[in-house]
Amino acid sequence: MKAVRVHKYGGGPKDLVYEEDIMQPPHPKEGEVLVRVYATGVTPNEIVWIWEHPGVSLPLILGHEFSGLVEEVGPKVSNQMKGDAVYGLTDPLSLTRNGAEAEYVIAKESEIASKPQTVDHEYAAGVPMAGLTAWQALFDHAHLSSKDTILIHGAAGGVGSFAVQLARWSGAHVIGTASAYDFSFLEDLGVHDAIDYNNTRFEDRVHDVDVIFDTVGGKTLERSWKVLRRGGRLVSVTSQGIPTSYDKRQEYLKEKGDSFGVNATWFIVHSSREQLIRIGELIDSGQLRPVVDTILPLSQANKAYEGAKDIHKHGKIVLRVRTELE
Ligand SMILES: NC(=O)c1ccc[n+]([C@@H]2O[C@H](COP(=O)([O-])OP(=O)(O)OC[C@H]3O[C@@H](n4cnc5c(N)ncnc54)[C@H](OP(=O)(O)O)[C@@H]3O)[C@@H](O)[C@H]2O)c1
Repeated sequence: MKAVRVHKYGGGPKDLVYEEDIMQPPHPKEGEVLVRVYATGVTPNEIVWIWEHPGVSLPLILGHEFSGLVEEVGPKVSNQMKGDAVYGLTDPLSLTRNGAEAEYVIAKESEIASKPQTVDHEYAAGVPMAGLTAWQALFDHAHLSSKDTILIHGAAGGVGSFAVQLARWSGAHVIGTASAYDFSFLEDLGVHDAIDYNNTRFEDRVHDVDVIFDTVGGKTLERSWKVLRRGGRLVSVTSQGIPTSYDKRQEYLKEKGDSFGVNATWFIVHSSREQLIRIGELIDSGQLRPVVDTILPLSQANKAYEGAKDIHKHGKIVLRVRTELE
């Protein structure tokens, strides 16, 4: 089958190799399905953060989110059957499992759900990673309510664009930081107030917010503590500029939060069939819009990682693995 693999430890985008004769995954085991992949979403930082984890098994197919058709079901799979259109997220921390930048991927039944019917595979493939990250940040970790004011850093990005829409859907007052060229896009998504991070210090504009969702990190994170009200909540998902190792990040954020009198969390997204179902329902009822900026063929995966900054204005980059007619 066709797939994109990284062969070299510590490799970057130029080390991603497009190959056409990779062995197809084996038959699915108990609780697994084999998915015929139509499209897969890209998280550009993945090529950097996989090297933070020991035990990466090479060569490795990257990409954890996908949309496609169930090709074969393993024993004890009860919710999906051959031919179903599904979307999903395989475990982003499992670095011994091949990902979805390939014609076929193995997923667990618990990692997939029926694809939203109102969008095609390319739009559906851009949903699971960013949609689940935003959902878990807002509702599992920040416990966002309709009475809250939330500040979202990186509001126009892949994760941020879902966070803005979900926060708005929950009834919260939503403020987002982004470049000025993204303002009309953010207005369409439902943001109440946008702050241009290139020209305005957000701390001059907002105070005493209940929740901050940080997808930017570094100095933006450092400057965020003092704009939260006492007892407020901060959730971060980025490793950018957090001065500690991967396994100590949660501890670091918690201690930092304690010193400012706020609850702070850092987390890694996990797959959830239930949450994918809820997100799919919101998409099909028109309350949530997947945002895809660029679609590239699978053979140009390295461009998606390498040129992410240039080709990517807002929303997600998606790789087309096959057309809807194939
Ligand atoms: N922990 C997890 O489970 C998890 C899951 C998914 C993603 N992530 C991480 O979350 C981060 C965001 O991912 P993504 O896919 O949303 O990335 P993305 O699509 O590249 O979005 C990042 C956004 O941040 C904006 N930005 C850059 N600097 C900023 C600043 N100083 N203030 C405000 N906005 C700024 C960018 O805008 P411009 O266009 O102006 O540059 C862009 O819109 C990445 O670090 C990714 O690795 C973590």
